[in-house]
Amino acid sequence: MCGIIGYVGREPAAPILLDGLERMEYRGYDSAGIAVRSETRGLQVKKAKGRLKALYDLTHGGADMEGTLGIGHTRWATHGEPNDINAHPHISENGQIALVHNGIIENYLELKEHLLRQGVTFTSDTDSEVVAQLLEFHYNECHNMLEAVGRCLRRIEGSYAFGIICADYPNALIAARKDAPLLLGYGDGENYIASDVTAILKHTRKVSYMDDGEIAVVTNDSIDVFDSELEPVEKTICQVDWDVASAEKGGYPHFMLKEIMEQPEAIRKTVSPRIRDGRIVLDELHLTREDVAAFARIFIIACGSSYHVGMVSKYNWERLLRRPVEVMLASEFRYCDPLVDERTLVIVISQSGETLDTMAAMREAKRRGGRTLAIVNVVGSSIAREADDVLYTWAGPEIAVATTKAYSTQLVLMDLVGLYFAEELGTVDEETYAAVLAEIQLLPEKMQVFLEHTEDVQYLASRYFNHDSIFFIGRNLDYAMGMEGSLKLKEISYIHSEAYASGELKHGTISLIEQGTLVVALGTYAPLFDKAMSNVVEVKARGAEVLALTTEDLAEKVSKTADATIAVPVTHPILQPSLGVVPLQLFAYYVALQRGCDIDKPRNLAKSVTVE
Ligand code: M6R
Repeated sequence: MCGIIGYVGREPAAPILLDGLERMEYRGYDSAGIAVRSETRGLQVKKAKGRLKALYDLTHGGADMEGTLGIGHTRWATHGEPNDINAHPHISENGQIALVHNGIIENYLELKEHLLRQGVTFTSDTDSEVVAQLLEFHYNECHNMLEAVGRCLRRIEGSYAFGIICADYPNALIAARKDAPLLLGYGDGENYIASDVTAILKHTRKVSYMDDGEIAVVTNDSIDVFDSELEPVEKTICQVDWDVASAEKGGYPHFMLKEIMEQPEAIRKTVSPRIRDGRIVLDELHLTREDVAAFARIFIIACGSSYHVGMVSKYNWERLLRRPVEVMLASEFRYCDPLVDERTLVIVISQSGETLDTMAAMREAKRRGGRTLAIVNVVGSSIAREADDVLYTWAGPEIAVATTKAYSTQLVLMDLVGLYFAEELGTVDEETYAAVLAEIQLLPEKMQVFLEHTEDVQYLASRYFNHDSIFFIGRNLDYAMGMEGSLKLKEISYIHSEAYASGELKHGTISLIEQGTLVVALGTYAPLFDKAMSNVVEVKARGAEVLALTTEDLAEKVSKTADATIAVPVTHPILQPSLGVVPLQLFAYYVALQRGCDIDKPRNLAKSVTVE
């Protein structure tokens, strides 16, 4: 949430900042701002409510702002409504310090009281402005920016990534981080800070990731990093292998559609390097066969769509491993006094690797002695760095707020790991192992075939986009998949929707079914197909309009009952959600398109949720 960028070099800073903010706009988009410093004009600040376009127009693409040092911010509001004043950068009272912030300062009220008593005047309602003012206060005490930042950080509680510039420092950006992502970008005669590597990919692929408590002083020809005691820290510079094109729309009208279409290739990249001679090889994993055998309990912890991957995996892993697998929302896990000890494996799943709830849950699990394994997309992200083991999904940058290819790659990777553990434990027979593995390798091809003909889904979206409440029902894996289909739809089309286990409907929710209610009936899981169909008949009998999703071999049977049917290719039953989810993503996409929604940047949301 909230995107931060900073630049120091020889080029005009404002256009570089605006370009970086555009690439990070999915992190928050209710307002944006930049601050640039020049010899002649000092600190100049421009902010605008709304999308980045407003700031772009206000500054004429940055041409109005002079200077080669600056910071920028795109906001997802926490404290204070989205308006020009609450937008970042925030300026200290004397106009000499500008600051951008991502995170939440928990003790801001107490600090604000203190500063008010010193006679400081505030202009915004934000917690972030308090830090800008506190910084001026300490700078006035010590006249050294690094020292002032250190003093400030010792007083604040909460999470933060800061970008700071000061009129007295014509060639330096200061950055600091705790529990919010921030990286340093190394250029040639110019350097960067950013919350997200996509913001600076165009300029450099050499980055280092800031750790909690660190402060960086960034000039055009040096980056010096210090710990919280202001002792120098050596950073490892990494080479990022994502290319710029993968973070651009490439001719598609929306990132979401592009990312849906990229799924076959993304799955290929996740799977292929991990299969050799018909066996799964997880070189990155440090867990031995004995470690795996010693786990008495497995938790899967995540949020949103990543949690839905966990739901599917719980069914599959329990089936394969014959071990209890508990899937929990990260925000709940953290505060439920979880039963984690040295014999517990805790798997955390996160696309961004920065979701605060997931990160905090992982830390809690570690604190209790659990062994952590992270399934993450963003290389070098906080969760990836802190987990005991990490397996990357290698889906490439995902820009649309609604996740698609990250979900699919997480799912297939979890299937792969589940199968691998099952083999280690001896709980899967050779025939099943070979059959599932062969089908995993065929998934990209089968998905591609489906994606080549999306007309039926488009047509059905145009038929149903006017419904104001939609139910997704299914059993077992179909239920888990329905949760994702329902989230996708509500997230981008704003249609109320619920996912229900079909068998549970008649225990209450069926009272909501009336003449014409749209029910998306999921019948792709062959072992429970007949049971699922009985529930379809029940909702039909109460007037529901039924859109069924099934597999090609069952389509004829389904179409006798359903009003409309979508069929996906057949695969091994435990892998069926990997194919079934694709029409659900497309349905959500085309419904949202019909309704004129802002698909890549749905209201109230942000891509990476770094607040609790
Ligand atoms: O980056 P993460 O996977 O940790 O994100 C978790 C959720 O915030 C995320 O999946 C969210 O639900 C998506 N916007 C759903 O499309």
